[in-house]
Amino acid sequence: MLVLTTLLVLAAVVKVRCLSNGLAMTPPMGWDSWNMFGEQINETLVRQTMDAMEKFGLRNAGFVYINLDDGWQHYRANRTDKPLEADPVKFPSGIKALAEYAHSRGFKLGLYGAPGQTTCSGFTGSEGKEKEDAALYASWGVDHLKYDSCCSHMFATKAQVQKVILDMSTALMNQTHPIVYHACHCGWQDVWEWAAVEGANHWRIGQDISDDFNYPGLRDGYYYDVLDMIDRGNNITKYSGPGHWNDYDMLIVNLNGKSTQLVGTGASNTEYRTHFSLWCMVASPLLIGSDVRYMDNYTVETLTNKEMIAINQDPLGNAAVKVADAYNGTLQSYAKNISDGSIAVALINRGTETVIMGTMPLIKDWNLSWPTYRLRDLWQHKDFGTLNSTYWVEVMSHETKVYQMWQVK
Ligand SMILES: *[C@@H]1O[C@H](CO)[C@@H](O)[C@H](O)[C@H]1NC(C)=O
Ligand SMILES: *[C@@H]1O[C@H](CO)[C@@H](O)[C@H](O)[C@H]1NC(C)=O
Ligand SMILES: *[C@@H]1O[C@H](CO)[C@@H](O)[C@H](O)[C@H]1NC(C)=O
Ligand SMILES: *[C@@H]1O[C@H](CO)[C@@H](O)[C@H](O)[C@H]1NC(C)=O
Ligand SMILES: *[C@@H]1O[C@H](CO)[C@@H](O)[C@H](O)[C@H]1NC(C)=O
Ligand SMILES: *[C@@H]1O[C@H](CO)[C@@H](O)[C@H](O)[C@H]1NC(C)=O
Ligand SMILES: *[C@@H]1O[C@H](CO)[C@@H](O)[C@H](O)[C@H]1NC(C)=O
Ligand SMILES: *[C@@H]1O[C@H](CO)[C@@H](O)[C@H](O)[C@H]1NC(C)=O
Ligand SMILES: *[C@@H]1O[C@H](CO)[C@@H](O)[C@H](O)[C@H]1NC(C)=O
Repeated sequence: MLVLTTLLVLAAVVKVRCLSNGLAMTPPMGWDSWNMFGEQINETLVRQTMDAMEKFGLRNAGFVYINLDDGWQHYRANRTDKPLEADPVKFPSGIKALAEYAHSRGFKLGLYGAPGQTTCSGFTGSEGKEKEDAALYASWGVDHLKYDSCCSHMFATKAQVQKVILDMSTALMNQTHPIVYHACHCGWQDVWEWAAVEGANHWRIGQDISDDFNYPGLRDGYYYDVLDMIDRGNNITKYSGPGHWNDYDMLIVNLNGKSTQLVGTGASNTEYRTHFSLWCMVASPLLIGSDVRYMDNYTVETLTNKEMIAINQDPLGNAAVKVADAYNGTLQSYAKNISDGSIAVALINRGTETVIMGTMPLIKDWNLSWPTYRLRDLWQHKDFGTLNSTYWVEVMSHETKVYQMWQVK
């Protein structure tokens, strides 16, 4: 099922030949095992995760991908020495049975692989055996593949990385079972410029996120906090769209400093909610990275806010752009067009004090002449009626207000 389509790259207004599998027309949503559990995963954990995601309403809110990250494999070895198999102790029923179970519960199942002899954690890799592995994943009913070029290809040239990513994408597209393809390359070598052309449905825009809202400097020389990640995405939004997304990395909501893999001391409820708001605004994939078996009510309310999720999943697939930046980057507004003709706007206070921010300047920044408009607060789930002047609101330190605005004629 190899389909060639043309993709209009908006800003450049150039037509690029693009490999497309027709999948992920809205950003993928689900859970990934790595940040909380590392290699310590097993089928009991996965089943309990599905139970929790159903119980807390996450599945019905759209979080359907249950993605096993590194560590599901049997052998910590070079691929020339050992085959690619599931660990029989961690997954005694096998991946096929787990995928069938996931499907019966209304979920999808994702797996993790890597080019090269080994994955990042030293398990068997796929390079040179992409066709065999893609066929195996498809025969198991796997719905998503994170293909992580981290280790063996950290110092590879762009051409080498493009080749290994393309080899797997063409092998996946050759399968009749649809598999969403995450080409994970740590945001190196301007991956956003070429990954869609190579058939990727999403790609990371940076190295790993840390469990921090705003850590001064680059944490341990490697990890980006929430605000760094958002800033990194600012000038590459044009590369994101239906079927091919800039991925700002997994959600740190609910990690609370307990990740076994990430550095970071956690963030406040307000900061986690700002993080979620921003990921929704920029149309990032939404993959929860925490232990969803344990969540407080505030966290559940954050992650299952259907109005915010609708902004993330809007079929136009726009990524919000920064339209205002005041007081040295302390007060910022992001906006994006929504398919029903409205705009979604986020007012962010990155500073340390409560401030008053307004909506009308934002309409002007967005070059709209809307004398009257309807305003809805997507966190309070509250309508403010028809307004003809600026709506002013107090925004706490590190808080984000998200509104949807419709022109009233
Ligand atoms: C499965 O993984 C979880 C999370 O790492 C762990 O707490 C649990 O002990 C494991 N269960 C089995 C049966 O290995
Ligand atoms: C994998 O192969 C490389 C190169 O031959 C070797 O240095 C390394 O020790 C092997 N690793 C394992 C886990 O066998
Ligand atoms: C696609 O499948 C065909 C038929 O099984 C096979 O000959 C071909 O090598 C495959 N191509 C890729 C890229 O997997
Ligand atoms: C985005 O901004 C960064 C930092 O200023 C710069 O290095 C990079 O080239 C820019 N990318 C694009 C696509 O404009
Ligand atoms: C959390 O929500 C559940 C379900 O709505 C409710 O039964 C419970 O009382 C809430 N807990 C707290 C501490 O508010
Ligand atoms: C921005 O930062 C510079 C340098 O720290 C300072 O001189 C200036 O007053 C600041 N501007 C505003 C509007 O806060
Ligand atoms: C948003 O939509 C308006 C009205 O259709 C259009 O004029 C404007 O160019 C769009 N802006 C962006 C950044 O897409
Ligand atoms: C609004 O118009 C100005 C001036 O033409 C332009 O620089 C700016 O990019 C526009 N903003 C948006 C969001 O389209
Ligand atoms: C704006 O709305 C107020 C209150 O509804 C109304 O009294 C006023 O006439 C309106 N002004 C304009 C210019 O429409």
